[in-house]
Amino acid sequence: MFRLAHISDPHLGPIPALGPGDYFNKRVLGLLFWKGNRKRHMGAEWRDRLIADLKDAAPDHIAVTGDITNLALETEFERGRAWLESLGDPRDVSVIPGNHDAYIRGAFRRHAPQWAPFMSADTAPETIAFPYLRKRDDLCLIGTSTGIAMPPFVAGGVFGRAQAARLEAMLGDPSIADTFRIVMIHHPPQPRATLFRKSLFDAEVFRQVIARTGADLILHGHTHLATRAAIAGPAGPVPVVCVPATSNGPGASRPAGRYNLFDIARTASAGWQALWTERGFDSRTGELVTFRDREPIGSFRPAAPSQ
Ligand SMILES: [Fe+2]
Ligand SMILES: [Fe+2]
Repeated sequence: MFRLAHISDPHLGPIPALGPGDYFNKRVLGLLFWKGNRKRHMGAEWRDRLIADLKDAAPDHIAVTGDITNLALETEFERGRAWLESLGDPRDVSVIPGNHDAYIRGAFRRHAPQWAPFMSADTAPETIAFPYLRKRDDLCLIGTSTGIAMPPFVAGGVFGRAQAARLEAMLGDPSIADTFRIVMIHHPPQPRATLFRKSLFDAEVFRQVIARTGADLILHGHTHLATRAAIAGPAGPVPVVCVPATSNGPGASRPAGRYNLFDIARTASAGWQALWTERGFDSRTGELVTFRDREPIGSFRPAAPSQ
């Protein structure tokens, strides 16, 4: 059994001082939004309690589906690196960027190397290129990027045809056909998951790949909601799961922080079983509670039993 944890959107705060040039770009709007909304509801105390609870569950691996920063400032990437190191060894923590990590043009490319050990393929551990693939036991974790600088008030993402071609080749590779394939993507790939200006503009491109190659589980963030959807795969629907923002406290418009656990194992009947546990804060009381306890998340394609 492999226990995978899923968290997303920690939006580590507070926002550091802006440089003079930042008052003429999108960052000044992000700062105002933070002061008016996120600062009130997002905090280290909630995040630290949630992560301590997650660590008690002793996951084998943690998937972080983006928006670690707020404005993609260099100091936020430094803080992000320290926080990722506090989660675990880079071999046990896989990260993808969100739109906030690519807030203004060039910021992600400049600062992302700080996160490279957490965001790179087994075969090239210091190189950032998406999608990347990591194999752990009988699981394959594939990290994609939809984070791209957008105009003010637009939080959408782009997957891109070049990345789609590489993802299709990766998922279709016969050498991983017998593994449990997990795809991480920041923006929700299913239709009508969020407002158009916050959506994945070419989600259809991603869905077409999955429709041809399939996958066993898709994890995303961005909406800060607790949702389960599905998109079509060649052998049936592929589950798509989102988790509320790690740092969110009670009383906000979005649910308070949660994490997901997936206990994944081959079954005696040569298929896969993934049991979903969801824990986090009750948005009203702030108590840590279990929302789901080892619920089967779906039926999966047959796989050959372990040798
Ligand atoms: Fe976010
Ligand atoms: Fe986002």
